[in-house]
Amino acid sequence: MPTILVTWWCWFIWSHTAVALLEDGYDLVIVDNLSNSEIWVLDSIDELSWKPVVYDSVDIRDEEWLSSIFSTHSIHAVIHFAWIKAVWESCEFPFRYYDNNIVGTINLLKAMDRYQVKKLIFSSSATVYDSLSQKSPYSEQSLTGYCTNPYWTTKFVIEQLLRDIWMRRGSDIIALRYFNPIWAHPSWLIWENPQWVPNNIFPYLMKVASGEYDEFTIFGDDYDTPDGTWIRDYIHVVDLANAHLAALKKVLSSKTWFTSVNIWTWTWTSVLEMIQIVQKCIGAEIPYKVWARRPWDISESVASVAKAKSYLDRESKLSVKEAAQDWRNYLQA
Ligand code: UD1
Repeated sequence: MPTILVTWWCWFIWSHTAVALLEDGYDLVIVDNLSNSEIWVLDSIDELSWKPVVYDSVDIRDEEWLSSIFSTHSIHAVIHFAWIKAVWESCEFPFRYYDNNIVGTINLLKAMDRYQVKKLIFSSSATVYDSLSQKSPYSEQSLTGYCTNPYWTTKFVIEQLLRDIWMRRGSDIIALRYFNPIWAHPSWLIWENPQWVPNNIFPYLMKVASGEYDEFTIFGDDYDTPDGTWIRDYIHVVDLANAHLAALKKVLSSKTWFTSVNIWTWTWTSVLEMIQIVQKCIGAEIPYKVWARRPWDISESVASVAKAKSYLDRESKLSVKEAAQDWRNYLQA
């Protein structure tokens, strides 16, 4: 089976993808700088997949070290997850974001070029779409490029770099554009557990559910929605992991050139509905307060899922109800 290099900086999506790949028989080489992850996740992956992985503690900004990974292992393709992603932090520390996300990616592309590795899956984001000059739903052909913060800029810039590399080097690259991955593997041996205060809804709710935090804060209840709280398309992380697997198969088996694919579910849940779902799972109240809107929250974002169906033969299958049931089973076990 082909050997896949997985770059990792934040272990939520990558760990679920690793399990999907290992279960499908791929060999994995994983590099991470452990900046927002913990090494024990490798044991959980081993427990779930029964397959060893090669791991090296590499910061992808270290060009030499990264190169040594390619010289030691025969890599057939790369799945690139090594990015940092907190919007507010990127506004405070823009250079940290350019350095981690853009410089790191350039090093990776240089190493791939040196070792003639031409297949890449990139974790992109629906935030690359230009929400100023057009209305969603976005298709993959919609304009990209209106970025309101440095984190989104890094995703946009990297997509441009990948387009250049495809044109100059004839690579096969798929950028998966997604927005809100949540939930966890049904075993709950892996889940999103950031080392710092979570920025995103689900890990924060989990910490309130477990009693680690006293209450949840709803950012805005004056939106033009049925319950006033904002609505998102939340994708189950296992579905998202399987989309990475499907994209990998595609680049390994065909000429894709550079292409992007939206990975969404086409279902919407408000913040209050999410709180109610979590309450049902844990059988207890989630205390919450209402606070002002976050300045960067975009007013609307919907992306078409047609290409994921036709091009990758993928549909998001796991419903919120099933995911909630998994969690309830785990909590009651
Ligand atoms: C954010 C980023 C996106 C990033 C994604 C995954 C924006 C607009 N987008 O998406 O770039 O790729 O995270 O990391 O910032 N909410 C609360 N209280 C909380 C946390 C969230 O009410 O403590 C609400 C938000 O206002 C939003 C929804 O929950 O309506 C989802 O928020 P979040 O999980 O942060 O994801 P996004 O903002 O959609």
